[in-house]
Amino acid sequence: MQIPSWPQSGEREAELLRMVLESPQWGGFHPFVAEFERSFAEYQHSPFGISAFNGTVTLELALSVLGIGVGDEVIVPAISFISTATAVVRAGALPVFVDIEERSFNIDPERVREAITPRTRAIIVVHFGGAMANVGALCQMCVENGLYLIEDAAHAHGAEWNYRRAGSFGIAGSFSFQNGKVLSSGEGGMLVTSDEVFAEKARSIANCGRTPGRGFYQHDRLGTNFRLTALQAAVLLAQFERLNEQIETRTANAHLLRGLLSDTEEVAWQAEPGEITRNSFYLLLGRLSRGTRARDEFCSRLAAAGVPCTPFYPHTLYQNPVFREASCRISPCPVSEACIRDAFWLPHRVLLADEQTIYEIATLIRAIFGAHPMMVR
Ligand SMILES: Cc1ncc(COP(=O)(O)O)c(C=O)c1O
Repeated sequence: MQIPSWPQSGEREAELLRMVLESPQWGGFHPFVAEFERSFAEYQHSPFGISAFNGTVTLELALSVLGIGVGDEVIVPAISFISTATAVVRAGALPVFVDIEERSFNIDPERVREAITPRTRAIIVVHFGGAMANVGALCQMCVENGLYLIEDAAHAHGAEWNYRRAGSFGIAGSFSFQNGKVLSSGEGGMLVTSDEVFAEKARSIANCGRTPGRGFYQHDRLGTNFRLTALQAAVLLAQFERLNEQIETRTANAHLLRGLLSDTEEVAWQAEPGEITRNSFYLLLGRLSRGTRARDEFCSRLAAAGVPCTPFYPHTLYQNPVFREASCRISPCPVSEACIRDAFWLPHRVLLADEQTIYEIATLIRAIFGAHPMMVR
């Protein structure tokens, strides 16, 4: 099957990279870095963007700006990439793992409410796979309880809830531009925020404690160096020009594929409540009703036919060996544990395939389930 490779690059990346290579500044002070920060933050409906070298340090940076540390608790979903939780531990705070919803793969606001204690300082919400979590309920809960909402939007470039983009709901939104992400420079990350004081502090910490307008060797606070390079910014600016079109292609193909499989009862696709006005479709997620062995076989048969398919994470976050040592609190997570056994995802590059390939994938999936062949155009 003709599944596009990822990441993709073209003459535009080469052109912008050449401009950097021919300049005397390859590091974070090249104007491309500030240009990308401005454009991407604006794209995510946020006035400020602070880039960094990956989407793990951006989470750590957000917690550090907020002064979250020893004695504090931060609520996180039980299903995510490890950085969502390790950032909390590295800040010195206690991660509190909470279950996800049955169909959305996103943190369950009701379970969050039950997990709040007087020590809770923040909630980190992950917009899993690119379908935004219920930020309406979570924002309200944060206001009622005096908590910060941090959006881990590593999957959610361009995603929307009621026409407002990921990253613009919390005190900060954290993005990743790692190799597999829908906007990529191999490695890279950014915090976006609407809070000017937060933005200034984050920028200063990420830039060795400097303050704009003051000397290069003037370090006003304890900082570090998280700066993105100009080479990464050049690649990101070029990739960014294709992002909207790619989201449209993925959206059309996701709807086509799910539509072609709408009568196959074995798969429950990720739910998209009406408030989701745009899904980035970083992952096409589903759960299979026939158990783990059938799920694993489903993924193997797709992979054997050339369609990449991942049998979900092998553990919930708290089942990772790191949390045998690191302190944490775990609330009951039956849905997360069930997803480990029955969920799967197709990566976004599958959804960039041409329409004919999407029909072939649907035909293959129907054959795996022994369903009636579909009407082929
Ligand atoms: C949900 C989530 N958060 C954070 C990260 C960390 O980003 P990075 O790999 O850029 O450090 C990732 C993925 O890589 C992720 O999927």
